[in-house]
Amino acid sequence: MDFSIKAFDTKNTIASAKTGVVAVAVFENKKLSQAAKALDGSGEISAALKSGDITGKAGTTLLLRGVQGVTAERVLLVGLGSDDGAVSEKSFVSGVSATIKAFGALGASDAIIALPMTEVKERDVNWAIRCVVQAGHEAVFRTDGQKSKKDPAPAGVKKIALAVPATGETKLALAQAVAIANGMDLTKELGNLSANICTPTHLANTARQLGKDYKFDVEVLDRKQLEALKMNSFLSVTNGSEQPPKFIIIKHMGGKAKDAPVVLVGKGITFDTGGISLKAGPGMDEMKYDMGGAASVLGTMRAIGEMNLKLNVIGVIASCENMPSGRATKPGDIVTSMNGLTIEILNTDAEGRLVLCDALTYAERFNPAVVLDVATLTGACIVALGHHKSGLFTRDDDAHNALADEIMAAGKAAGDTAWRLPIGEEYNEQLKSNFADLANIGSPGGASCTAAAFLENFTRKYTWAHLDIAGTAWKSGGAKGATGRPVPLLSNFLIGRTERTARTTRN
Ligand code: BES
Ligand code: MN
Ligand code: ZN
Repeated sequence: MDFSIKAFDTKNTIASAKTGVVAVAVFENKKLSQAAKALDGSGEISAALKSGDITGKAGTTLLLRGVQGVTAERVLLVGLGSDDGAVSEKSFVSGVSATIKAFGALGASDAIIALPMTEVKERDVNWAIRCVVQAGHEAVFRTDGQKSKKDPAPAGVKKIALAVPATGETKLALAQAVAIANGMDLTKELGNLSANICTPTHLANTARQLGKDYKFDVEVLDRKQLEALKMNSFLSVTNGSEQPPKFIIIKHMGGKAKDAPVVLVGKGITFDTGGISLKAGPGMDEMKYDMGGAASVLGTMRAIGEMNLKLNVIGVIASCENMPSGRATKPGDIVTSMNGLTIEILNTDAEGRLVLCDALTYAERFNPAVVLDVATLTGACIVALGHHKSGLFTRDDDAHNALADEIMAAGKAAGDTAWRLPIGEEYNEQLKSNFADLANIGSPGGASCTAAAFLENFTRKYTWAHLDIAGTAWKSGGAKGATGRPVPLLSNFLIGRTERTARTTRN
């Protein structure tokens, strides 16, 4: 899908625009949007509303062909619900998705979307642009890469022009929206790819390719190097696997050389069987998505590479499989992590924290401004928050509260929300072991919080936040597939940081 901006004025009118289809809004009270009025010289649009052919209810559409006085071949009327001076976010989203769906069934190849993009309640035009671009990408996204017979090629509209003022702001918003959508596509592709193909080596090769495409500095550490770094906690997870572990470092140094980087740390378990603490059979295939954190780090790097964001960002990915075998780690085994803390592995299925803790220790060397780790860490996070919001954990002090607010706001603005959950001494107490410094599982209750508290032990040298994306990285059931989350949240967070850096430099 190709997107552009097309501004209209009194000379260059929507009515005279040459295109396959123009989408304009109508409302439940039979009112027409500005753009709909501009196409209603012949009264055909008002007549369609009057006759009840379209109610204006959010998400309804009606296609008119050959409207008099309109150059476009077709006019798509899109219901946006009630019109009390502004459109609700929910109505706009459902109107956009109905528009994109209708476009897919047309003989037209290009379109103009002239919906009221600047009139959405509590949202700006940037948000509306992202909403359209994401819906467009979603519609043409294919999951047939591993099918011998490909699904039918997407039909209909391939080029969409957005009728908004062509300002520096909207042009930048469109470029960012496309970059984020491309990043999400990469995250989704990696997630959906079967685990026999999407191995740690595949993730490393993907990072190397991104390095070539966007001039990132990419480094991949193998087992020998990880042993030299004393990453025994990470290495304990890979023991049962035939696939070599990979530790990936990917750098976008778009800021000033002296600026402290943002470090994104991703959990990259390309398949989680649970190890000796083997998971139950049904639905285990979904544990191919256990590299969702890593995939979102790579997707976000792609997005900021395409934007050429003026910020230093380093992605760190700890990737391996969690398999049972004669060589696999056993419950009760004790390992010494890279930072010296010893860990009693009471459950080999709590492996995410074992790979992350060493990656978090490794991140110290970058003197980071902030470290954000992203992980499909706990099933309990789905129990707590469902599939709507990612779990967000930070320490409870002023700097970390401000960070939590910043991340929550970035997610909200991106339509990729997170919700704060607690960590603290109480949860850390649950991780006591009789034989080691820490156990890798907590006593019963609050499993997402004890997992986060475990990680906290390894992050005391910098400002840190943890995102548990177990419920948001993919969908199960008939719609099984990766979502591309939390790429929008992360990208928006980094865009916000860039703007903040630019402001402080100017002052
Ligand atoms: N990758 C899983 C978490 C997970 C499970 C994400 C289901 C999404 C859906 C993680 O490695 C895991 O197995 N966690 C355990 C922790 C437990 C052993 C303390 C869990 O959540 O059951
Ligand atoms: Mn597990
Ligand atoms: Zn896991």
